Parts: sequence; structure tokens; C-alpha cells
Amino acid sequence: MIVRLGAIAILPKNGCQGRLLFFEIMSGTKKPRVLNMNEEQYLTTVDIYLADEEETSALARQLAPMLCGTHPAIPPAERGGRIHLLGDLGAGKTSFTRALLREAGISGRIKSPSYALLETYKLSNLYFYHLDFYRFSDPREWIDAGFRDILKKEAVVLIEWPERAGSLLPPPDLEISLAYADPGRQARLTAHSNKGKLWLTTLALPLQGCPPKDSPGDVS
Ligand SMILES: Nc1ncnc2c1ncn2[C@@H]1O[C@H](COP(=O)(O)OP(=O)(O)OP(=O)(O)O)[C@@H](O)[C@H]1O
Ligand SMILES: [Mg+2]
Repeated sequence: MIVRLGAIAILPKNGCQGRLLFFEIMSGTKKPRVLNMNEEQYLTTVDIYLADEEETSALARQLAPMLCGTHPAIPPAERGGRIHLLGDLGAGKTSFTRALLREAGISGRIKSPSYALLETYKLSNLYFYHLDFYRFSDPREWIDAGFRDILKKEAVVLIEWPERAGSLLPPPDLEISLAYADPGRQARLTAHSNKGKLWLTTLALPLQGCPPKDSPGDVS
């Protein structure tokens, strides 16, 4: 387990260092942003202000290789995972997803699944499912639509409006909540699994080749 996670950096005791590094990842600069991380070694929550669509896309581009199993900190066998995207109409859920799919290598048009409910892509034997449950009025509709099988597969699954499926939908690895914060968006990233914690910690910290003292357990 420690070997698998060996490329993950340790959260600096001084949280400021982690924040600063995250600024650099997000924007290429060190200008201060609002960002709060909890003090655990493996992050479960990150708050970040995304000033414009480019910063929404930058966040997605950072996560893409982790979901595709091409990031050096994530074992290829751990590729795939589920992200729930919450936020009002126009908050940036599709923008985020488009940028992630594009970074993953999907070419051609990436349509919003607002009407079709599901758009499917395949790349290097990995399936990508982009769903939008906005039009569901009954939480059982996504089950009736046959979407439950998708969740069982090794795949990258991105779901907009997951709350419309109610409590029947299992928790994702990572929940991203986008709120209007003029002129940008306030994003809260919450990990619901060890895999999600690994993504968040990897996202927020640089690779230093130092194994963490304690791992969050099996990544699943
Ligand atoms: N961080 C940001 N700051 C400001 N504008 C943004 C940001 N991220 C994305 N946008 C803009 O907000 C809009 C988001 O549209 P998008 O279709 O992605 O929203 P959505 O959350 O998927 O909406 P819906 O619920 O209707 O599916 C786009 O016009 C995009 O340019
Ligand atoms: Mg959308």
C-alpha cells in the first residue's frame, strides 16, 4: 500500500505551503486565492475560487490523468472513478466535464447530455460516461433508464445534477460543488472514498517522492 502511494507527497505541517503550491498548480502564479484545506494528511475537502472558465478547465485538466490512470501518483489499475457535479444552471458542470474529457484525449464534439441524458466515449479501452439527471423528476428514473450498470463498470463517470437521483445513487469518489461567486465560481471538492482522497491530496500537493507516514487504506 505504501509502495502504491509512494509518490504522494506529505501534507506540509505548515498548511500555507500546501496552499501556495495549489495556487501555482491552478493558475501558474502565486497570487493569493481563498483556499481552505483540512489538516489531515489526506485531504477530504478543498475549497477554491475559480475566477473564470479557464480556471474551471485547469482544475479539470489536473484531475483528468488521475482518472485515466496516467498520473504518476495513481496506479494504472486504479483508473476510473466517479465524480458528481453540483451547482445551479450554468454553474460550470459541463464546462468542467468538457475540459476533463478533452484532456483525457477525447476529440471531436463533446455534447452536453442535457437532452440525451447520457453521452458515452471510449479511449484506450476506458469508457467515459457523462450523465445529466436534471430532467429526472423521480429518483427511480435513472434506475429505470438502465444507468445502474454503468456504475458497476471500470469507467470514468461524471454526473451532473446527481441530487435528482436522490439517495438511490451511491456516493461518488469526489463531489464537486460549484456556486456562483461573481465574477467566478466558488468550488468545494469533497472526497467520499479513499480514491477521492488520493485525488485531492495529489491535486493539492506536488510530487516529492516521499511516502506518507500513514495511507488512507486501500484505494477502491
Ligand atoms: N469559474 C468560472 N467563472 C465564471 N464563469 C465560468 C466559470 N466556469 C465556467 N464558466 C462559464 O459558466 C457557464 C457554464 O456553463 P455550463 O453549461 O458548463 O453550466 P452547467 O453547470 O453545466 O449548467 P446546466 O445545469 O444547465 O447543465 C459557461 O458560460 C462558462 O463559460
Ligand atoms: Mg450542464
